[in-house]
Amino acid sequence: MRLFSQDTKVTALKRAPLFDGLTRKELTELARVSEDLDIPAGKALCTEGEIGHEFFVIVDGDIEVTRKGKPVPLRGGGEFVGEIALLEETPRTATVTATTPVRAFVLTRHDFRALIDANPSVERKVLRALARRVVELSEDPTVA
Ligand code: CMP
Repeated sequence: MRLFSQDTKVTALKRAPLFDGLTRKELTELARVSEDLDIPAGKALCTEGEIGHEFFVIVDGDIEVTRKGKPVPLRGGGEFVGEIALLEETPRTATVTATTPVRAFVLTRHDFRALIDANPSVERKVLRALARRVVELSEDPTVA
C-alpha cells in the first residue's frame, strides 16, 4: 500500500538513524523498494517462532519486545527489527508489538540483503544491534 509520496518517504527514511550516511540516491532507491506501513498500537510486527520475511525500520512510535510472553529489555535501540530471521533463516526470536501507533518501512529479505551488501555503514549498525540482541538471548535461561 502506498501511503506517502516518494519525497515524503525519502524525508522519513532520512530520519531513521540506521540510514545515516546513505546518499539521497540510495534513499530514493530505498523509498522505491520499501513498503510503508502504519501499524496501530497493540498490533504485532513479528511473532516469535514464525518464519520471517520482512525487515522493519521504525520511523515513529514505540515497540515492545517479548519472549515467551514476557517483556525483554530493548537492545540495540528500537529503530529496526527483524534482521535475525533474515540473516540466519531461523524462526523469529521474539514477538515485537507496537505500543503506540508505529510508522515503519518494510523491506523484503531480498531488498534487506541488497541494502546491507551495498552499504557497509548500514551493515555495521545492523551487526552491532544483532550482537546486543544475541547477548540478550544468551542471557535468557528460557531460550535453548
Ligand atoms: P527476528 O528474530 O527476525 O524477529 C524478532 C526481532 O526482534 C529480532 O529479529 C530482532 O530484530 C528483535 N529483537 C530481538 N531481541 C531484541 C531485544 N532484546 N531488543 C530489541 N529488539 C530485539
